[in-house]
Amino acid sequence: MSTTLRDQFGRAIDYLRLSVTDRCDLRCQYCMPKGFKDFAEPGGWLSFEELTRVVSAFARLGLRHLRLTGGEPLVRRDLPVLVKMLAEIPGIEDVALSSNCTRMEKLAVPLAEAGVQRLNVSLDSLRPDRYREITGGGKLDKVLRGIEAAREAGMWPIKLNTVAMKGFNDDEFDDLIEFCAERNYSLRLIETMPVGDTGRKALGSYLDLQQVRDELVKRHGLEPASMLGAGPARYYRIPGSETRIGFITPISQHFCETCNRVRLSCEGDIFACLGDEHRYGLREPLRAGCSDDELMEHVMAAVNLKPERHEFNERQEKVVRFMSMTGG
Ligand code: 5AD
Ligand code: SF4
Repeated sequence: MSTTLRDQFGRAIDYLRLSVTDRCDLRCQYCMPKGFKDFAEPGGWLSFEELTRVVSAFARLGLRHLRLTGGEPLVRRDLPVLVKMLAEIPGIEDVALSSNCTRMEKLAVPLAEAGVQRLNVSLDSLRPDRYREITGGGKLDKVLRGIEAAREAGMWPIKLNTVAMKGFNDDEFDDLIEFCAERNYSLRLIETMPVGDTGRKALGSYLDLQQVRDELVKRHGLEPASMLGAGPARYYRIPGSETRIGFITPISQHFCETCNRVRLSCEGDIFACLGDEHRYGLREPLRAGCSDDELMEHVMAAVNLKPERHEFNERQEKVVRFMSMTGG
């Protein structure tokens, strides 16, 4: 049995990013404003049972890959219980996690045992003072211990996600590459996106990664490389090393034609595109007692709202929600 879920432009949608909470224990400048309080109410969060039903409906339609995001997903209580429920859904081939790793040290073993395989870590600096500044108080040593714990627990591959910011961390790319090369991690540099007020403000430190890439390719002798499940990143490798360096360039070079994903918020809204305010609410039909077949109909309708491409370059004011609602 192999079904394929397609949007109206023929793109196969086999990847769901599930935001399990919009809360976070950090306040990255480009993501959530300081003092932000307008979080979803716990009563509005989909329960583990509801999330499992939604993912099952997706999986019956052809979804294969799942990634848990936030906010910070480890802030959601009993996350390993949810992971186990999701990992057991027929058709789901892998469950990945995107985390800031502040709470990973304690949770790595239960999460890995529950079925988390791949890990992406949001990390913008390897300098404690800068890390504290960019995250609004985060402790780098704790994060580094968390990443180590995840590796020991068997999560693999491990990729660092670094938002590239002019005048802030653009002097650290060599250090980040070296850090990853020493540990066989991969590194992905990401362009800042105008999502929410914070994201738009961050455009002031926007860096066109095509230039950065050309410089790094020269300096490190990087070679173009393929990468399984590469998604939006274009990858290079350090000769003789497992480390891949990826560049995610939604602004300077969009990749919408190969987009394979949709996002689900913790309140049950499907966001078919990161660059679009369209949402399709699943909570209401779920709580009105819809059948599994009806749920699948809703999922298909939501996927059909996916636009052909984002308009970050034409309409920067378009997306008002903060990135913490959809988890990047
Ligand atoms: N632009 C680009 N990436 C962002 N993230 C959060 N806000 C933005 C933004 N405005 C990224 C984080 C993390 C993930 C949750 O999304 O760095 O990797
Ligand atoms: Fe939290 Fe991630 Fe947003 Fe930083 S980018 S505030 S770690 S959700």
